Amino acid sequence: MSKSFNFYKGKIYFIIRVEKTMDKIRKIKVTLKSRQTLEGAGVRLKRAFGYADELLDPFLLLDDFHSDDPRDYIAGFPWHPHRGIETITYMLYGKIEHGDSLGNGGVIEAGDVQWMTAGSGIIHQEMPKKGKNDSLLWGFQLWANLPASHKMMDPKYRDVKSSQIPEVSLNENKVKVKIVSGELNGVKGPMEDIITDPEYLDVTLIPHTEFNHPINEGYNVFAYTIEGEGYFDDKKEELVGKETLVIYRDGDTVNISTLEDGVRFLLISGKPIKEPVAWRGPIVMNTNEELSIAFEEYQNGTFIKHK
Ligand code: FE2
Repeated sequence: MSKSFNFYKGKIYFIIRVEKTMDKIRKIKVTLKSRQTLEGAGVRLKRAFGYADELLDPFLLLDDFHSDDPRDYIAGFPWHPHRGIETITYMLYGKIEHGDSLGNGGVIEAGDVQWMTAGSGIIHQEMPKKGKNDSLLWGFQLWANLPASHKMMDPKYRDVKSSQIPEVSLNENKVKVKIVSGELNGVKGPMEDIITDPEYLDVTLIPHTEFNHPINEGYNVFAYTIEGEGYFDDKKEELVGKETLVIYRDGDTVNISTLEDGVRFLLISGKPIKEPVAWRGPIVMNTNEELSIAFEEYQNGTFIKHK
């Protein structure tokens, strides 16, 4: 009896040790194809998600603009308010002109990122422009929530030029990663000190390649495919094609691999806020009362707090 107990005790110890040293590969919860929708003054775009979900928290929305027909985007996003969130715009091609009610303005061009913290409130417009020689517009806008403690912070713009975004090559150049925020192999992205500790990576894998990337346990992570196809966990049950959202369960590592095709995707993670979400249009607060106040202030001209 005691002999066999000792035998099992050894085995259990061994299993616990293996378990502790092995990565906990995150499994796919669900994959969702992005959906065509109309936004702003009539912009045709694809929405990867636009709802509060405990597996996407602190992120609220991801839009994919991709068209070479100016009629799909030229109407743009005229004057509108934001409060309680951050909007992160990343352009692959084309440009968006930006201006706000405080007189800030600029152009987000191919490869650039604008990390805009609306905080207590901004009123801005975002207007895509047709290029001189070609009309392709391609980019993404992500919305990240702010915790109650920071919803009414002063607004802040961080304009990051493409030349400021480092690219790291891994696995004998089979994997390339542009780091907007986060850290890889000791290389840090330009966006730091963001409250939800987000990591924002633009990752490209050539065919027959594997990429393992650590992500803090308890953080939420999703991938959004831009081009090509790949497996997004180690079960390899589904080859995920372009324009698809991959939502993950918990773990400490993501595992992505390719077969005949390469794949390019955004890999985005952050620390969940775990607070109630009250959301109407471009304003996201914790309670309906705070939402009503925000819209009332917008109507009576007291919305902007920061001068
Ligand atoms: Fe906006």
